[in-house]
Amino acid sequence: MSSSAGASLSEFYDRRLVIAPIGFDHFADVRNLHASALREGAASVLSETELDTLLNLIKSPRYSDLLLQEEIYGGWIDDELVGTASWHTNSDDGRAARISWVFVRHPGFGIGRRLVTEVEARAQHSGFNQLAVSATANAIPFFERLGYQVASRGVRNLGPECALPVAFMRKFLLRPVRARLS
Ligand SMILES: CC(C)(COP(=O)(O)OP(=O)(O)OC[C@H]1O[C@@H](n2cnc3c(N)ncnc32)[C@H](O)[C@@H]1OP(=O)(O)O)[C@@H](O)C(=O)NCCC(=O)NCCS
Repeated sequence: MSSSAGASLSEFYDRRLVIAPIGFDHFADVRNLHASALREGAASVLSETELDTLLNLIKSPRYSDLLLQEEIYGGWIDDELVGTASWHTNSDDGRAARISWVFVRHPGFGIGRRLVTEVEARAQHSGFNQLAVSATANAIPFFERLGYQVASRGVRNLGPECALPVAFMRKFLLRPVRARLS
């Protein structure tokens, strides 16, 4: 794709993208999006067992419980859910907001950036200027581009049988972040 075609597609997504809170009614679309984004985006950095375990978690009722713990936002183009991102108070120390569930269906057109900016603004509005994210290796360059830095590496436990190798990344918000939603 030429860079001008990529730029005009980015503008198209920018104009058409509608960001709104995700409710229980959307969870089937969320599962579908997360499973396909993982297969396409993260399969190369996870073992077969890690990927299968995660895909099984996404299908399980427990996944709804995990989603319900978050303030989660979706990005739609018409009726298609094309991305999600969420935030939640970090359970480690309560001082940082944890950004999670960043998944995009059409990567490379700025959808991930727009969704993360939205949840950053939401977290900041709730009083958080420190942000944390646990990023799988494929997503580290994306978060670095958005101003996050790797603090350490380890494992994120998503349940008794689901542990993922991640980089723990941090960002400090130095100025107000503008949200799209009022
Ligand atoms: C990681 C992911 C969310 C990125 O979303 P996206 O919509 O493709 O990202 P954007 O187009 O908004 O990119 C924002 C910036 O990051 C850069 N970027 C994104 N992915 C990158 C990569 N893999 N390597 C280098 N830079 C990258 C973009 O070039 C862009 O830079 P720019 O500011 O110069 O334009 C998406 O690829 C995805 O869903 N991956 C699979 C699921 C996943 O791994 N989620 C993260 C779990 S922690």
